[in-house]
Order: sequence, then structure tokens, then C-alpha cells
Amino acid sequence: MPDPIRLGIAGLGTVGAGLVKIVQDHAELLAARAGRRIEISAVSARSRGRDRGVDLSPYSWEDDPVVLARRADIDVFVELMGGEDGPAKASVEAAIAAGKHVVTANKAMLAIHGQAMAEAAEAAGVALRFEAAVAGGIPCVKTLTEGLAGNRMRRVMGVMNGTCNYILTRMESAHLPYDEVFEEANALGYLEADPTLDVGGIDAGHKLALLAAIAFGTRVDFAGVELEGIERISITDIEQARDMGYRIKLLGVAQMTGRGLEQRMSPCLVPAKSPLGQLENAMNMVVLEGDSVGQIVLRGAGAGEGPTASAVMGDVMDIARGYVLPVFGQPARTLESAPNARAAAPAPYYLRFSLMDKPGVLAKVATALGDAGVSINRMRQYGHADTAAPVLIVTHTTTPDALAHALKGVEATGVLTAAPVAIRIEEV
Ligand code: HSE
Repeated sequence: MPDPIRLGIAGLGTVGAGLVKIVQDHAELLAARAGRRIEISAVSARSRGRDRGVDLSPYSWEDDPVVLARRADIDVFVELMGGEDGPAKASVEAAIAAGKHVVTANKAMLAIHGQAMAEAAEAAGVALRFEAAVAGGIPCVKTLTEGLAGNRMRRVMGVMNGTCNYILTRMESAHLPYDEVFEEANALGYLEADPTLDVGGIDAGHKLALLAAIAFGTRVDFAGVELEGIERISITDIEQARDMGYRIKLLGVAQMTGRGLEQRMSPCLVPAKSPLGQLENAMNMVVLEGDSVGQIVLRGAGAGEGPTASAVMGDVMDIARGYVLPVFGQPARTLESAPNARAAAPAPYYLRFSLMDKPGVLAKVATALGDAGVSINRMRQYGHADTAAPVLIVTHTTTPDALAHALKGVEATGVLTAAPVAIRIEEV
């Protein structure tokens, strides 16, 4: 049997501990599959004394992850610390410079520094793998990079933040407002230390930017992702959408258009009966559409010890087997800088207006929509709160620009009693 492959693991939180467990519990299975043993040489974390439920005594300890990354007795540096810059970036750069393969779960770092890191890794002839960075346990990076390599990709979509999906589905099932479910999610430990990463759509936007780079052969462009979080989604909209056969999801969509690369991460209505519409709780779903394969749907846990460690281990196994693929599926220096096309793909929209309850008010709204070229498909009025009349409208397909123009027109009529709500309906 060839020499063992030796890991240095930086970061011993949930995922790091999960990885140690897999290496210890499945040692024979991993060796049989990789054709060599998988060993851990050394580990590093912020606190040495903490009980992580795994025996770390066989491994050397390093306080400094950069020192760990350069150790002579490691072949693969596994970065599980997180953070866009700081020790994660410094240690990954050190590992590549020292000729070590790298496996990371760090979406924020790669979404910002992925291009430079990929070029460095490819120049050094080492792997830089990141399956665990996108949708946890779902092997979507591998599916896209390898299984679908023969396709021109049409569209990549997904629900890639489990916390947001938990909040939205829990609001619906328990009939609770956003703030209350946000607190529940916090108590369950679902939220990142900075919750804006989750509910602001940033974490999911990082993931979408990474998938888009592979799908469309473009340089990772997180700044080009149009981001909108779920903070303003109300229980009213969730319930009205449900009554019309839709569910609200924080949905990422990336596609190449004639004007450039469109990337958006925003709340959308999706048909309740679609696979995305049926996604419950903290699960993730990635939908890949290629010209030859059609649509592929991958569903699974997007976070947590087992699923994320499983993704890390899959990358380690490939490296142990000797696969070193280009980081984003083609040499990094050949990735193109696509112009950033502000999302202009036409779609129907869900609109909710709170109107003054007076004669002629609805006609003014309909006129403002019509003047902007926005056509009404369905409309209904429900309930009355004091003097306000809530009105729901589903438009025919229209462009985001026409819709923005229409909303300005509606606001200018002076008949609204609250800010309008407009949510895109995505055919999925
Ligand atoms: N906070 C993320 C989620 C997991 O809720 O899906 C890590 O990206």
C-alpha cells in the first residue's frame, strides 16, 4: 500500500470534530477506498483544553495554524476555522506556498479570495477543494465540476441557507412572526455569530458565487450578486402566497445572459408543488440545469457536524486517490471576467398593497401599473383593517425595471397606507 496521506486540521469546532470522528471510525473503509491510509498528523484550534468528544491525544498540537500549514509531516491542510481573512487566509496561503493540498469549508474566504487562491494552488500543483463550503453535505461542487462537465450550464439555483429556510417554513407552519422565529432559531444555535450572514442572504450569496464560477467559467464575483435577505418577509405574505399555491424561499439564481452574468439571492415565490417549494426546515436544495442533462435536483443537509464533515472527507478522499482538478473546473487563469448583468430576466410578481378604503382607489393602482406596461394576471382583496384595504396582485411576466417604474407610479397616487410589497415569482 502507498504511504498514508497525512492531514493537518485547523479548527476543531463541530465540523473539525466530525472530521476527526470519520477518520477514526472509518479508518479501514477509507483505506480500502483510497488505496492508502488516511491519518491525522497534527491539529490546531483556539482552545486546547476544550472537550470535543473526540480523542485528540494521538495528534501533535499547534497553536498557530500557519505553523501547522507548513509542517513537514502533513500532505493536506484542512481549514475549518472560517472567516474571510485573518488566520484562515494566512494559513491557506502558507499551505499552498509550502506545496500542501488544501481542503476548506470557508465560503466567505473563497468568495472574496478564490481567484487568487486558485491561481496560486494551480501554479503550485496542489489541490484546493471546497465541497463543504457550498450546501454542506450536498456534493454539488463535485456534481457540477465533474458529472456535468459535458454540459453548457443554463441556470444554477438553490436554497443554500438552512437557517433562512428554517425561519420561513417555521413561520408558516406555526403561524408566527419573523422576530419570534428568529429568536427560536437563535436559541437552537442555527444562526451564525453574525446573523446578518444568514438572514441578509450573504452566506447563501457566497455559495451562489462559487457555483456560478464553476457553472459559467467565470471568475468568482461575489460583489456581482444582487442580495436581499429575508428580514422583511412577513407572515402575511407567507400565508397569502400559500393560499395562491406558492411558498416563499430565499432563492439563489445564476445564469449567463447576453448582457453578462446574472446572480441574485433574494426571497422569491416558487410553486408550492415544485421540489424547491416542498423543501422544509433547515434543508438545502441545489438545482442544476445543463443543456444536455436537463434539470438535476440535489437535496440534503446544508450544515451540521456529519453532513459538513462528510463533504470535507469526500475532498480528502479525492486527494488521497491522486485527483487534482482545477479549482473551478478549468484553469483559474482561463476564467473570464463576465460583465455583471443586473437581474433583468422578466418574471411575474406578487404585489401586496395596503390601500385607502375609498372609491376609485383601485382604479388608480390599476392605471399606474398599466402606464408602466405591467399587466395584472390575478387580483384579490381580502379582509379590511380599519380604513385600509389590502389588495393582492399577481402580475403577468414583466421586467424588474418595468415593475420598479410601476411601483413608483403606484406610490405617487398617494393611495397607499403602507409601503408596497413586491416579490418575484420564479418558475422553477
Ligand atoms: N449558516 C449556514 C446555514 C450554514 O444556515 O445554512 C453554513 O454556511
